[in-house]
Amino acid sequence: MADLEGLKVAKDYHVNVPFANQNGFFVKGANSLDWGMKKHLTNIFNPKSGNTVMLAFDHGYFMGSTAGLERLDLLVPKLAPYVDVLMGTRGAIRTCVAPEITKSVVLRVSAGSSMIQDDLSHEVVAMDIDDCIRMNADAMAVQTFIGADGQLESLDNLNKVINAGFRYSIPTLGVVAVGKQMERTPRFFKLATRIVAEMGVQMVKTYDCEDFDEVVAACPVPIVVAGGKKIPEKDALHLAYDVISKGAHGVDMGRNIFQSAHPVEMAKSIHKIVHEGMTDAEAYEYYEDLVAHPEENQ
Ligand code: 5RP
Repeated sequence: MADLEGLKVAKDYHVNVPFANQNGFFVKGANSLDWGMKKHLTNIFNPKSGNTVMLAFDHGYFMGSTAGLERLDLLVPKLAPYVDVLMGTRGAIRTCVAPEITKSVVLRVSAGSSMIQDDLSHEVVAMDIDDCIRMNADAMAVQTFIGADGQLESLDNLNKVINAGFRYSIPTLGVVAVGKQMERTPRFFKLATRIVAEMGVQMVKTYDCEDFDEVVAACPVPIVVAGGKKIPEKDALHLAYDVISKGAHGVDMGRNIFQSAHPVEMAKSIHKIVHEGMTDAEAYEYYEDLVAHPEENQ
């Protein structure tokens, strides 16, 4: 174990220098992976923009039926055309998403806590790799609780999934959890994203924070950013623009899309930022126009 006394603070992130080991394949850190992994990653990240819009609707795995997610069978088909990835549980996807919807699927494979508990940090791996293969998943998402009570078991879960993923060339998305009691500082996010990346995931999902460009620079795989609690549409578009301009390779957004009064218009506007280089101001104008003229924008 490295001596923690007198630890030097990391500061040379070279945020303006592109990732160096990038020859040959467009997804950060995936250069040395095999064809199958690269194919799955290409289903997730658009090869033109290099980015992805994931629609997160996995909240039911610990929250039950959340506002906006009451009827997945109605919601998901409506939003699917405007996102790249459907991120949910196998129960939600098998029952509510027709296989004819040809979108990439990222399966939530860890579970074990519910919001009526105080400590959500204890989970297990809830899904076999066999079933992920049967569902043609492009990746498996595992929650990790760095700095929380359940850190050890969540990293054990993560490593089991990563190992199975390597056996069958299915990428793993490591999700950095932020609990009630956990800090949300740049120091925490740099630590957590880097630990998760060094375990061997192919993508990390985390949250925006101060010095986010340094979090991105120090993480050798693509970062996608969670939306978090519902905020005004203008602010959610700003969040998306801000993290993309600081190097995130996409968003994995839930409540700020499906809890919006205009979820389809929100998904379309997020798409413009993530894939077409729109600024947040332009995207908000676009959003308002879509909302104001629904009949012209069918
Ligand atoms: C929970 C998750 C959710 O998918 C995540 O929080 C994304 O949804 P939202 O944008 O609503 O925060 O990973 O751990």
